[in-house]
Amino acid sequence: MGIAGFEQIGVIGSGQMGSGIAQICATHGLRVILVDINTSQLERAQKGISLSLSKLESKGHLKAEDLPQIEARLSFETQMNRLASCDLVIEAVSENEGLKTKILRELDTILGPAAVLASNTSSIPITRLATATGRPSQVIGMHFMNPVPLMKLVEVIPAMTTSPEVTARIIALAQGLDKEVSRSQDYPGFVVNRILMPMINEAFTALMEGVASAEDIDKGMKLGTNQPMGPLTLADFIGLDTCLAIMHVLHDGFGDPRYRPSPLLVKYVEAGYLGRKTGRGVYPYGSTN
Ligand code: CAA
Repeated sequence: MGIAGFEQIGVIGSGQMGSGIAQICATHGLRVILVDINTSQLERAQKGISLSLSKLESKGHLKAEDLPQIEARLSFETQMNRLASCDLVIEAVSENEGLKTKILRELDTILGPAAVLASNTSSIPITRLATATGRPSQVIGMHFMNPVPLMKLVEVIPAMTTSPEVTARIIALAQGLDKEVSRSQDYPGFVVNRILMPMINEAFTALMEGVASAEDIDKGMKLGTNQPMGPLTLADFIGLDTCLAIMHVLHDGFGDPRYRPSPLLVKYVEAGYLGRKTGRGVYPYGSTN
């Protein structure tokens, strides 16, 4: 059993990304421990996973009789030391380098020597995260897309120090989770966010300059370039704070003014209008989910 030699997976951070990652691992037969220090967030994650599984079942993507087994493979914990027997831990906490480094260092002391550490970071340099641990050849970027159960892609980003064996196993794991892999070198934003975020940022600048209304910008890009969502709707979906944080990573990492965050994006974040999760971003939303 297992995929690419991984049987017991730990996931840290039970937000949208972490719970989606835990869900697809359990769906593909792996035992998963999802860890979060916040118990109410863990409860929300558990409910969200159940809801997502039943939605997928109602659309014929999963069999009803499989759901109890999938849920039984998932456990929810608040203590990181419960991950001691994991072969792989994927961290999916918020995009804060200090926090991610602290967690990876702690995991390094908890896990067995052969265990692999993956980060779902969308933009923090993997080589820096890897070399903060005592196992730099066993740390890798594994960047899932939101919503994880529906999106086909995983970006795999080896650090400069990652061994080819670990990279090959993580690629095999992603494929075993029924995802397509795009491999990227460890440069700011990797591939997806390096190209996606400047597009979103430019949409904010166009809105700021009054080139068009938010609706027309989104309609133009959605219908004109066959994207499932226009860039401003997508920014609300991702979270404007996340978009801004990634623009800062690109701007700082390349030192190039073409990655300057749009002042309007900055202003939305300062106002606390962070998108769907706060009930208001570029657009208003009825609820905060
Ligand atoms: N689990 C199960 N079902 C889910 C789900 C989940 N996690 N999330 C959404 N769905 C369901 C919806 O509830 C909906 O169900 P109903 O038809 O019963 O209402 C169904 O999937 C389809 O959703 P929608 O009707 O809203 O319409 P859609 O066809 O547009 O699909 C979408 C939704 C897949 C999100 C699509 O809009 C899309 O692909 N959007 C772009 C997403 C994207 O670009 N993601 C990447 C962001 S970048 C990133 O993640 C990287 C980063 O670092 C920032």
